[in-house]
Parts: sequence; C-alpha cells; structure tokens
Amino acid sequence: MNVLGIDIGGTGIKGAPVNTLDGTLLAERHRIPTPDPATPEAVAGIVASMVDHFDWDGHVGCTVPARVQHGLVRTAANIHKNWIDTQVDGLFSRATGCRVTVLNDADAAGLASMRFGAGRGLDGLVFFITVGTGIGSAMFYNQELVPNTELGHLRLKGGAAEDYASNRVRNEKNLSWKKWAKRFQRYLDRIEFLFAPDTIILGGGISRPQKVARYWHHLSTEANLIPAELENEAGIIGAAAAAAR
Ligand code: BGC
Repeated sequence: MNVLGIDIGGTGIKGAPVNTLDGTLLAERHRIPTPDPATPEAVAGIVASMVDHFDWDGHVGCTVPARVQHGLVRTAANIHKNWIDTQVDGLFSRATGCRVTVLNDADAAGLASMRFGAGRGLDGLVFFITVGTGIGSAMFYNQELVPNTELGHLRLKGGAAEDYASNRVRNEKNLSWKKWAKRFQRYLDRIEFLFAPDTIILGGGISRPQKVARYWHHLSTEANLIPAELENEAGIIGAAAAAAR
C-alpha cells in the first residue's frame, strides 16, 4: 500500500510517498519550513500544501512531536500550546480532503526502525530513543508498539530529562561531545534502572554515523545499544507505515 508520510518537526515539515511494504520512498522527499508561529491551523495549511505538491488523494500518515491519543493531542512540550486538545486527525483531514492518521513522532520513527531499520527482527523489550530538540521515546515488546511513552520527560537532575540531555541542550550550552555523553549516560542509566530493556536504539540527528563516532565510546549500557539506520526519513516512513495498519 502506498501512503503519503509527513513528519512535522520544529524547523521543517518533510514528506514523501512511501511504499509501506518495504519502507522505500516513491519520490524525492519534499521539505517546507515549519511556520512561525506553528499553530495547528498554520501547520494544517502546510500539510495541505504537501498533499498538493504530490498531487495526493490517498491515505496520509502524519507525525507530531506530542502525545497523540486517538487523534487527540494531549501535550505540547516543544510545540505551540494551542495544540493541546486539538483533534488533529480531523483538522488535517478537513485541510487536505484525505484520510489522515496521526501519531507521535518518536513512535513513528521507532516503528520505521523496527520494520525496516536497526530494529528489524529484534524481539524482547526494545526502546527507541530519539534525541533532538526534545527526547522522544518508543517502546516495543516483541515488535509491538506500546504508544505514547514520553520518556524524554523522566525527571533527571531536578527537571525533565530532555532539558538536561537533549541535542538542543548540547548546542545551547556548547557542551563537548564528552560532556554531553556524560549527561546522556545518566539518562540511559535511569532508563535501564526502571525498565531493563534488551535493546536501546538511538535515533534522531545524533544517530548519523559522523556524529556517532564522536560520542559512542563514552556510553555504556547493559542493553544492546545500537544507532538507528534511517536517520532523516524514519518519521516519514513510520508515519506512512502506521497509517497503513
Ligand atoms: C515530546 C514528545 C516527542 C519528543 C521528540 C518531546 O518534547 O513531549 O512527544 O516525541 O519531544 O520530538
């Protein structure tokens, strides 16, 4: 089944049609800058432009960086506060005229990883952790997603973990990779203490091979720790895969 996957991020909204059987993109990825302010209505307008760009009239899968329960947005840590209580699947369907499925961005990227990336064939308890502006999480048991885990908001050093160990904090505080890795190690320790996953997959911008080379040797876990493979496209592919289910 072919689905248009759209990944809504803090700086860019990216989309491409996806073959959900093998996770391949069927056309070149299209990127539109995220509007400012990124209200639900403004973002819905961009989602509609994306649908127009691909001349799409089929099913659409879309991510948002928030907890999404049955198409209703419940949190807004790194996005405009107006998102809270938005019935986002209905909003995007009206804006595009298409059937739209919406899910959390980390859940989508995790799904892509489990189906088509580093998590392929992995059983047991697998955590997919994506590190960017925030920290997102997706939890899988024997390949089945337990949605909306929000482990970027675990308490760490008196605040949310993502305000201590995200890539945003690394940039803002100009931390060396070693210093950032020390913070992130604390986060991994907490995850392991609470959940004892068999595997942890690290995704987001920090999973690019050039970045991995800078900090991987500073991390150590009981779990099998592996970088994600799909990088930038994971959200698009996972959104499409979720919509096809
Ligand atoms: C949000 C999550 C999201 C993560 C990564 C967090 O601030 O609460 O829903 O998955 O950022 O974007």
